[in-house]
Amino acid sequence: MSSATTPAWSFTTNGPPRAVLSRSRIPAPPFPPLPHPTEEYILVSVSRAALNPGDLFTTHLVPSFMRSAGATVPGLDLVGTVADVFCPPEMTARFAKGDEVVGLLVFAHILATGRGALAGLVALPARYAVRVPEGRKGRDVAGLLVAGCTAVEMVDGAEAKAGDRVLAVGGSGGVGSMVVQMVREVVGRDGWVVGVCSEGSAGLVRELGCDEVVNYDVHENVAEELAKRYGGQKFDAIVDAVGADMRIYTRCAEYLKPEGVYSSVGVKLGGFGLLNAVSAVWKMQMNALWPRATWLLGTGRTWKATTMMGPGLELMQCVVDMVGAGKLKVVVDSEWPFDQVLEAYDVVMSGKAKGKVIIKVDGGDN
Ligand SMILES: NC(=O)c1ccc[n+]([C@@H]2O[C@H](COP(=O)([O-])OP(=O)(O)OC[C@H]3O[C@@H](n4cnc5c(N)ncnc54)[C@H](OP(=O)(O)O)[C@@H]3O)[C@@H](O)[C@H]2O)c1
Repeated sequence: MSSATTPAWSFTTNGPPRAVLSRSRIPAPPFPPLPHPTEEYILVSVSRAALNPGDLFTTHLVPSFMRSAGATVPGLDLVGTVADVFCPPEMTARFAKGDEVVGLLVFAHILATGRGALAGLVALPARYAVRVPEGRKGRDVAGLLVAGCTAVEMVDGAEAKAGDRVLAVGGSGGVGSMVVQMVREVVGRDGWVVGVCSEGSAGLVRELGCDEVVNYDVHENVAEELAKRYGGQKFDAIVDAVGADMRIYTRCAEYLKPEGVYSSVGVKLGGFGLLNAVSAVWKMQMNALWPRATWLLGTGRTWKATTMMGPGLELMQCVVDMVGAGKLKVVVDSEWPFDQVLEAYDVVMSGKAKGKVIIKVDGGDN
């Protein structure tokens, strides 16, 4: 058995990152990771990982009996270099040693293996990875996949088209910054995009493609302001990348056309207790079941929520191609050395990140 180790951040008990995460060296992942693999696997020397609010569900909420034995490494997004490839003889390998890849580790993989992206070396099924596009560097796609795939699903779900008027709630976060760019691309020059964000994010949100901004620092009741401003000229679609203020959905008939879709990232948890999670799921179910008929006190508008559990290769490739074609860029809030993962998680937990929070791993030895 190999005695090689790799640096990693991991946890064994539940709680916020500052309370439960520690940096150590863990055994390098066995490669191939299973005795009789039936699909292609790659071993990646990670150069960058990105943090997501989803990591906080893993550290706070997933009990030890649902995780693989021992310490769990969080982290969904990674980029790096292929250090080794295993491919069953009857299959053709997609990757070769030295390829630069961008990968998304789905929750099920992390829970089953205990191995997320915050490690120097990560073994993963090749179907969780896509090549870094030609002419781009790993850093151009760090933090791309979770937010980008979520944004594509939401924008597709909104069914917006060229020339439409679209409201983008939360245009400055990891998901929101990509939503705004994608919506702009879909509606084109003839369309009109309005973003909802704080004062400090207005410049960024305009730069990414919004024509107008509603500042939620100034307007505590955003729904009321939207009704006032856009009641006479309603939106064709709403894409909500935050899900924090349910009044924006419950009052949307006042500013969203009857056939318009309210496409949401979900309902933001009020905290990380089990009850908060149950309450958010309950609200989402209620929104989905809310009567379409306004005479039954319903919104009369369709609610769609995205669940990005495993995007699949086609969707990942589509998002990576957008970056390759110069149609999408990853907005970076901040980049942190591997030692400062806890400080980086503070930014994610603040709920004020402007774009993605990136960790420089460089094989983990910096
Ligand atoms: N359903 C899924 O599959 C899925 C996938 C990915 C993420 N998510 C969820 O989607 C949410 C967003 O993810 P993310 O990665 O984009 O998070 P994030 O990067 O941490 O989002 C931070 C951003 O949210 C904005 N924001 C906070 N409160 C707001 C409000 N009331 N109105 C408008 N903007 C507000 C902030 O903008 P200001 O600085 O302007 O306040 C900040 O830029 C999270 O709750 C995450 O768990 C769901």
